[in-house]
Amino acid sequence: MDQKWNFVVAANRLPVRRVWEGDTARWVPSPGGLVSALRPVMSGNPDAVWVGWSGIPGAGAEPFETDGFQCHPVGISQGEIQQFYEGFSNATLWPLFHDALVPPEYHRTWWDAYRTVNQRYATTVAELSQPGATVWIHDYHLQLVPGMLRQVRPDLRIGFFLHIPFPARELYIRLPWRTEIINGLLGADLIGLQTPLGVHNFCRSVTRITGAKTTGKVIEHDRMTTQVEAFPIGIDVNRVVGLATDPTVRTRAAEIRRTLGSPTTVLLGVDRLDYTKGIEVRLRAFRELLAEGRLPVDHCVLVQIAEPSRSRVTGYTEVRQAVEQQVGDVNGNFGVMGRPVVHYLHRSHPIEELVAMYLIADVMLVTPLRDGMNLVAKEYVACRTDNSGVLVLSEFTGAAQELRTAELINPHDIEGLKTTMEAAAHRSDTDAEPAMRAMRRVVRTNTAQRWAERFLTRLGKLR
Ligand code: G6P
Repeated sequence: MDQKWNFVVAANRLPVRRVWEGDTARWVPSPGGLVSALRPVMSGNPDAVWVGWSGIPGAGAEPFETDGFQCHPVGISQGEIQQFYEGFSNATLWPLFHDALVPPEYHRTWWDAYRTVNQRYATTVAELSQPGATVWIHDYHLQLVPGMLRQVRPDLRIGFFLHIPFPARELYIRLPWRTEIINGLLGADLIGLQTPLGVHNFCRSVTRITGAKTTGKVIEHDRMTTQVEAFPIGIDVNRVVGLATDPTVRTRAAEIRRTLGSPTTVLLGVDRLDYTKGIEVRLRAFRELLAEGRLPVDHCVLVQIAEPSRSRVTGYTEVRQAVEQQVGDVNGNFGVMGRPVVHYLHRSHPIEELVAMYLIADVMLVTPLRDGMNLVAKEYVACRTDNSGVLVLSEFTGAAQELRTAELINPHDIEGLKTTMEAAAHRSDTDAEPAMRAMRRVVRTNTAQRWAERFLTRLGKLR
């Protein structure tokens, strides 16, 4: 590794992942909010490198360029995919950090693999960084990297951002390796979380576990200082608005609406197929509203995009079965020949197609039981350039802290959700306009670029 970089980003995934179709492999965009927010920050930056995994097992491929910046693949073996990625990251940390919606599993072999892979990332980043470089580490897969890196490269400026919620202390302290993870994170000069609640939860856990002195957002430990702050993440507004006003995308939107039978009301959900997203809750509410005649079967359509995700991890097979059973039930009972009421698409879609769907969605349903931010909500708002449309948004998302004029709901309260969905479906564009206008101001102000700028400026001032 001869070339050294002044700005190094590390995340579990690279912005693109390798997929094989027959004998040919190609790169496609990686799933999830992390990549969609970070990509515009890296795009066209010749001084930056992104360290991450290609999504397939095996040794890391050769470094390559995408979108005007360098990608440096890290190898992850088949066994490590099972123990580090599917195991410790997604069956221990993910459920624990999302309020234990499914029971987290604790296995010592998974923890060993987590340490090994984190060490590999730390070593790679250390080798790629110029003296005094800025390093930005992302998300729950790599929480030991700041501490490991600090030990070998004390000269680096290290930032860490957690894209998912940090749980309440009472939950976090269940983790058998709670001290190691906290100490790993405290290797960073600056830790960013999505919301002030995340900052509060994190600081309470630190005080309890390490006894470190915490003054406001400053933690003093081992003769160093770590700053902890909320930096709510945003989207690439220019790109999304550009697509929303693109004539080809608008033509496609009109075509989709016609294909759906030109209904009066289109309700839309766009999610990774994850048990945190509350897809079952919204399907149940929709079914009951149809059954009670509160939404007209002939004029209403629900489109649910569910991007396949982590299909071998506990909780994901179950949520898929439950969702597909509900879709079958609604269509079996309320659909007519050639006209289903729920259009369920279990596959990923290019952003152009998603924007076309946002354009035809009169009601956007974002109903997670827990979510760090939820960028789908922000993408929908950005697309509504005429200020029409209603966003039904769970209180338990980071986005709800900013999009205060959304129709905020408690996804555990089915009756409340039904009342809100019914009212949203009947709201006129004129009535919906002030709320959407206010949300559009927020989304346009706090973009992905602005988020990164705020974080990196803060980090720059710390050392
Ligand atoms: C969330 C996480 C990301 C993750 C993404 C997709 O947004 O915060 O770190 O990359 O989900 O999940 P996957 O397991 O496919 O990487």
